[in-house]
Amino acid sequence: MRLVKRSTAGALGGLVLGVSLFSACDQSQSSCAAPKLAPNQPNGSSALASAMVAMDSQLQVVLEAVMADANHAWEGYTLASHDLLALEPTDASMINGHFTTHAPLYLQAIAQFNEAPSADHFNAVVSACADCHHGTCPGPLTRIEKRRPQVD
Ligand code: HEC
Repeated sequence: MRLVKRSTAGALGGLVLGVSLFSACDQSQSSCAAPKLAPNQPNGSSALASAMVAMDSQLQVVLEAVMADANHAWEGYTLASHDLLALEPTDASMINGHFTTHAPLYLQAIAQFNEAPSADHFNAVVSACADCHHGTCPGPLTRIEKRRPQVD
């Protein structure tokens, strides 16, 4: 395991839980409605949103490292997985049937990458991100697509 640190989302979760109970049930206030232009409010992110930010940045870190390497070698990289179903969302309506179907598929894609890191398996992780987002949280889709490796 190099470069990728385990996320602290679990530890943050307890702190954020109290705040999110009082947050308005308004999708337009979440990052799902539109791509994020401003950084998160430190107190405003749910445990789930914080995990997402960590997931997105580990994809970015690994992708940049592989692309910077002359051989574009994927060996030795692993991705941390998150128990998405255990994390508090900004809005309970985000945890719909689509979400619960796609959370395990995402974990499978991570496991597949960790067993055999490759551009194809990294791309499958990005697809798993996007597949869930289509039915739960379309706002970050443009950002997620930027994590696609250039496969030739
Ligand atoms: C099982 C469904 C699911 C999967 C898989 C998933 N997401 Fe998400 N994502 C969501 C939901 C729902 C939210 C909104 C969370 C909230 O606001 O509490 C979200 C939020 C986000 C955000 C916005 C966070 C913020 O508030 O700033 C980003 C960025 C993101 N996801 C990227 C990713 C990436 C990258 C992956 C794959 C590594 C991924 N997501 C996998 C459902 C998913």
